Amino acid sequence: MEPETVLILDFGGQYKQLIARRIRACRVYCEILPHTTPLEFIRARQPKGIILTGGPSSVYAPDAPTCSAELFDLGVPVLGICYGAQLMAYRLGGRVQPADTSEYGRTDLSLAADSPLFSDVPPSTTCWMSHTDRITALPTGFRATAHTPNCPIAAMEDSSRRLYAVQFHPEVEHTPEGSDMLRRFVRDICGCQGAWQMASFAQTEIKALRDKVGQKRVLLALSGGVDSSVTAALLSRAVGRQLTCVFVDHGLLRKNEAEGVRRVFGPEGDFDLDFVSVDARDRFFDALKGVEEPERKRKIIGEQFVRVFEEVSKGVGDVAFFAQGTIYPDVVESGSGGAMIKSHHNVGGLPESMSFEGILEPLRMLFKDEVRTLGLELGLPREMVFRQPFPGPGLGVRIVGEVTKEKAHMVQEADAIFQEELLRHGVDTAQGQFFAALTDMRSVGVMGDHRTYEYAVALRAVATSDFMTAAAVRLPYELLETVMSRIVNQVPGVNRVLYDLTSKPPATIELE
Ligand code: XMP
Repeated sequence: MEPETVLILDFGGQYKQLIARRIRACRVYCEILPHTTPLEFIRARQPKGIILTGGPSSVYAPDAPTCSAELFDLGVPVLGICYGAQLMAYRLGGRVQPADTSEYGRTDLSLAADSPLFSDVPPSTTCWMSHTDRITALPTGFRATAHTPNCPIAAMEDSSRRLYAVQFHPEVEHTPEGSDMLRRFVRDICGCQGAWQMASFAQTEIKALRDKVGQKRVLLALSGGVDSSVTAALLSRAVGRQLTCVFVDHGLLRKNEAEGVRRVFGPEGDFDLDFVSVDARDRFFDALKGVEEPERKRKIIGEQFVRVFEEVSKGVGDVAFFAQGTIYPDVVESGSGGAMIKSHHNVGGLPESMSFEGILEPLRMLFKDEVRTLGLELGLPREMVFRQPFPGPGLGVRIVGEVTKEKAHMVQEADAIFQEELLRHGVDTAQGQFFAALTDMRSVGVMGDHRTYEYAVALRAVATSDFMTAAAVRLPYELLETVMSRIVNQVPGVNRVLYDLTSKPPATIELE
């Protein structure tokens, strides 16, 4: 059975994922669809509600994204946000015009009338605005329900047709009552029960995977990261030994990570599957010998991975499906252009020369925190499920310059010390990335009565929610001192510890 669904039509706004997150937080399933989605498709999905996102255009622009006016006649509640609000006004016969001054940022909001959208909102509150155009005349049947100093129609509705619109952004944190408004929309106005839960998702998805796979074989490249581990767990529950997981130990994983993967998914673990673990460490270190350039290193790691994976897969027999741990943000963001900063090789990508009947991406509709909840639901250990993000090329991009076995060992040990102390000091690492990297700087030190000439470790600790921008965390000084002292004393080859304060931009999170 399909869960109760709210559809979010995307008009190019930058906060669409945030809207989806807020709706899912109300335990209501939602999906983001392009604004060009045919009306027939929308109708067939039988949504409980529709949300129109913001967007950068002006409704009068010749190539402005639009929607069919019939969308408002489906009998399904619609909430228009920012551009979505203007579009609703425009399509239904109201007027939208450029304002004399744009409103941007935190703005006082006054409620003008009772509205089910604002049930518990105080009459005066604040909201986050970001617009130049504004609605200046209401469509027939609508009334204004809120205003701001510059915007006489900051919210409007026709409650008899269950059509609602807000000029501001309820999805952002800076609209303090915004989450409550979205909750009112999906729960009270759309009548959603809020029954979207991981337990029911797991059951439904396991059944769907069984039906699709039948008696055939599935192959998964298991990296040990959260997404591929949860994919493995889910598929194992669905098709058991028809699933082969190939784990390539390239020697560039965090301390004890490879052992952890083997413990959880190997023959001693809780999951019924065919687990193949390949020790390819020497092969990777050989291939990386003498290579210093970051992009070359990434390419070599990617290519080696594909080769090892292909070789091993040949022995698996007739594989019909290839499974990947793609998650929703990957789906939403893919295809969005932008300059290439780094070639993000995802270990687990499909080798081009292999062909399969189909691809399975059972997590493609889930956000990261939902993937984590699902992982726990399926019985994966907490430390695996709450693991920090780790790049596909692994420590290869956390060792500046040439990668060697010895350097990999140094960075693994230093990182393990850093993680232990973060935990001991109660630092919340959930909203960021915390790790040790090895610079290629060697410097002079003194230990006992001896001169040393050894490497410097850089500690990196950044707070970020989207990994696009990040700022260094103000770690307690005492923690930094303890980590420094333990690293220089316990990690051979390291005689200096630096704390990297640089934000992103201009730096990136990883060192390469
Ligand atoms: P940067 O260094 O570009 O990293 O600021 C942003 C986020 O992406 C992760 N990262 C990668 N993830 N394959 C991945 O799957 C890669 O090649 C890769 N490179 C960087 C990085 O850890 C951070 O979370």
